[in-house]
Amino acid sequence: MSNLHNKRIVLIVSGGIAAYKALELVRRLRDDGAMVRVVMTQAATQFVGELSFQALSGEPVHRDLLDANAEAAMGHIELARWADAVVVAPATADFMARLRYGLADDLATTLCLASAVPLLLAPAMNQQMWQNQATQENASTLAARGILSIGPDSGLQACGEIGPGRMAEPAAITTALSQLFATASMAGRRVMVTAGPTREAIDPVRYLSNRSSGKMGYAIAQAAVEAGAAVTLISGPVALHPPAGVRTTDVESADQMFKAVTSGIDEIDIFIACAAVADYCIEAPSAQKRKKNDESLSLTLTPTRDILRSVTTRPSPPFAVGFAAETENLVLNARAKLEAKSLDMIAANEVGGPGLGFESNENELHVLWNGGEQRLAKAPKDLIARQLISLIAECYRRGHDDIH
Ligand SMILES: Cc1cc2nc3c(=O)[nH]c(=O)nc-3n(C[C@H](O)[C@H](O)[C@H](O)COP(=O)(O)O)c2cc1C
Repeated sequence: MSNLHNKRIVLIVSGGIAAYKALELVRRLRDDGAMVRVVMTQAATQFVGELSFQALSGEPVHRDLLDANAEAAMGHIELARWADAVVVAPATADFMARLRYGLADDLATTLCLASAVPLLLAPAMNQQMWQNQATQENASTLAARGILSIGPDSGLQACGEIGPGRMAEPAAITTALSQLFATASMAGRRVMVTAGPTREAIDPVRYLSNRSSGKMGYAIAQAAVEAGAAVTLISGPVALHPPAGVRTTDVESADQMFKAVTSGIDEIDIFIACAAVADYCIEAPSAQKRKKNDESLSLTLTPTRDILRSVTTRPSPPFAVGFAAETENLVLNARAKLEAKSLDMIAANEVGGPGLGFESNENELHVLWNGGEQRLAKAPKDLIARQLISLIAECYRRGHDDIH
């Protein structure tokens, strides 16, 4: 049964071109068993007819704050109390600005202010409007307040321009909402997550490393704890606080990470390898700091041990999830790695582009497993992590149900 079964969702539709896609969202939410009440801004009614939302949701559409009939029972407070979650799709630049400043000049914004349940935004606008500093600052402030968002996706826009600003697909919004209600999907599971980069010493003060910030792995550890798992985090050097409730072991080099993983792996049900482990280390690191001279310097690199392979080739391996950071042929390379390393699942992300992957606060993943795949639309890493944990929990459970 879907997590959304019998959940009460208030859908706010604001006035953007993507408002028509909100009709499909209502249909999908209802298909998953949710009860949906739609609130339209005045501008939204210029884009899509109220009647369509009414027919699809099976409920009257709410529009006016100062409607004496509806407000006899304090309509905005009633709606806020009724909802298990509020989703704004599409969220216009204007709506996000008003939300940021706490305006309450229509039913939709007043309802958001009066609500204490999770709020998910699906921004949609012209790419220049999205990239405008004002919109970006509004988006960051809202995120810092714990307001969730999904998208926008990049691509061809209704205005003919190409760039970020397309509303996330209704299917992706439905999945993200569903994750909010995923409770204890990992209760009783023992999960190990690796995160961050490794450092391979050249001498006592210098090292080879990479751009991994550890944010994705830490978000995954956090999401696994929230889902009820007992979590061990093996972390390379990062500038992050370990998530509460997670047993963290700090390491530096690929070799130390290998040893930390190996020493605890027997007690683990699910292994998630998110760390960007160095493929090579220095063959003979210098015991003393190397002095500069005019000669060119050659360093001999030697391959590090393959942590993932060492886990998946154990006699009874845990459910193993790998990550593939690719700069080209994302899905093809990821599928090859899934098979080559005998993984149960792989999460592929494109790195090298602006605003995604390493060092970024957002990510977009293509998750593949034997017999299935799912794209997780661009969203903050904590939201992506929750979706990934939910997918892992589902696949793990299915695997065990098949066996027993
Ligand atoms: C044809 C047309 C399309 C528009 N599309 C968008 C859009 O996709 N995203 C957006 O943020 N604003 C868009 N706007 C501007 C909003 O409609 C405008 O800012 C409005 O005040 C939003 O009101 P609301 O936030 O109360 O719904 C569009 C305007 C017009 C006339």
